[in-house]
Parts: sequence; C-alpha cells; structure tokens
Amino acid sequence: MTNRIAVVTGATGGLGTAMCKALAAQGRAVVGTHLPGEEAQAKEWQAGLQQDGIEASVYPLDVTDFDGCKAFVAAVEKDLGPIDILVNNAGITNDAPLKRMQPEQWNQVINVNLTSMFNMCQQVFENMCERGFGRIVNISSLNGEKGQFGQCNYAATKAGIYGFTKSIAQEGARKGVTANSVSPGYIDTPMVRQVPEKVLNNIVAGIPVGHLGQPEDIARAVAYLTADEASFVTGTNMSVNGGQYMA
Ligand code: CAA
Repeated sequence: MTNRIAVVTGATGGLGTAMCKALAAQGRAVVGTHLPGEEAQAKEWQAGLQQDGIEASVYPLDVTDFDGCKAFVAAVEKDLGPIDILVNNAGITNDAPLKRMQPEQWNQVINVNLTSMFNMCQQVFENMCERGFGRIVNISSLNGEKGQFGQCNYAATKAGIYGFTKSIAQEGARKGVTANSVSPGYIDTPMVRQVPEKVLNNIVAGIPVGHLGQPEDIARAVAYLTADEASFVTGTNMSVNGGQYMA
C-alpha cells in the first residue's frame, strides 16, 4: 500500500475512528473531518490516535455546505497533496414516525446524509479521474435496504446513496476511479446506543448472529474497498449487518 491521502468525513465518531485506524494501518495518510465548533474534542481525538502511533490531520467541516467542502478539499490538497481516497461517513439520525416528522427533521437528515455525498464527491472526482486513481466509499445503512419504523428520512437518504454511488461508479469506471457503498447494520456506537433500550433489545433479538456489530467490522470493509488492488470492485454495496437483511 502506498502513502495515499485518505479523507474520512465525520471521522471522530464511532465508525469514523475505526475507519481512520484501518486506513492508517494500510499506510494511508489519514485526514479526518469534525463538526465546526468541536475543535476541543477533535484535538483530543487526534491525541488519542497519536497514542496509537497514528499521525492524522483533522479539519473542521460542515458537509452540508457546498462552498465549505470546496474550500476544505482545496486546503487539504494545498497542505498535504492530492486526495486519492474519500470515505463519506458523516451522517446523523433524527428519528420520528412519519406522522410526527417535522419538515426541519426531514431536511436536516437529507442535507447531512445525502446532499453531502454530492458536495464532497464533486470536489475530488475530476482530479481523481485526471490522475487515473480514486477510491470513493459512501456509508449507507441496513435501513436504506430494508426501511425502518421511525426513519423515513434516514432510510430515504441511505437508499438514495445507492443510486448516487452506482451513477458515479459508471462515470469513473474508465478512469481508475471506483465508487462503492457499505451498509452497516446495528453497530455498537453512540448513534445506536441512543435508540431506546426496549426498542434496541428487540432489534438485537432480530440479528441472526445474536449481537451488535463492532466498528472494526465496518472499517475492514472500507479498507478492502479502498485498497489499490480493489480496482475491479465498483458500483457495488457491501452489507455488514450480522445477517439481519439478506438482499
Ligand atoms: N414496528 C411496528 N410498530 C412499532 C415499531 C415497529 N418497529 N416500533 C414502535 N412501534 C409502535 C409502538 O408499539 C407504539 O405503538 P402504540 O402507540 O400502539 O403503543 C407506536 O409504534 C409508537 O412507538 P414508540 O412509543 O416507540 O414511539 P415514539 O414516538 O416514542 O418513538 C421512535 C418513535 C423514535 C421512532 C422510536 O420507536 C425509535 O427510536 N425507534 C428506533 C428507530 C431506529 O431503529 N433507529 C436506528 C438508529 S441507529 C441507525 O440508524 C444506524 C443504522 O444505520 C442501522
């Protein structure tokens, strides 16, 4: 593996941290993004990685801000060099049954989870094509595949990611740029721990392997799809969900 630059959005969360570690283990130069205003937590995160021997860069970024994404990519390319790997991991939930979902809840989740894909990919895609190498991984969800009570906003974004990813995979295919999605099931992260205990217990009871996944389960899928050798894998989705949904 070469010292290619890998950007992970929403890097400081449960999944993002595991992804950064896995990419660093592959010799990538890791750049993480965090929410503007969370500088102190980001510094702590960076120091935690340093203790594991990982020198990650970290930048504030609001992935819903198109111009901000453009400025971020320009800054990374100026400070460090070209971005060869992009993992669009930033995402949120804001659950409510349809009858109670507010337009703000809908729009916020669409912007953070789906519009961010466009905002980020457009900034790196042409340069990747020109250089003849790129690896894009968009983080979707089990609930984009099957839907979920209380998540019509979230599931719509995660299903939308499939169409987006397959389209840009076609656009990059002859240029050495792959695009794939990973669909985590219920993973032991702060996002999943927000689900009310009773609801979560029912969900876990429905996972064939009998337990939540670990962030490293997802990180390994990202590492595989971003490998230099994964050039023939594009436009696909990798489900990592303990057998909870088998397409
Ligand atoms: N199917 C059918 N009915 C259901 C149901 C389900 N899965 N879940 C709840 N209901 C029913 C309840 O039994 C209840 O019925 P009654 O009114 O007849 O009693 C009614 O719907 C209301 O349910 P709640 O009391 O739970 O309603 P609420 O407003 O308090 O909460 C909710 C609604 C916020 C959506 C809550 O149910 C919830 O948090 N659900 C979990 C959603 C979820 O899985 N989120 C995943 C977050 S993690 C993630 O997204 C990561 C990933 O990618 C996998």
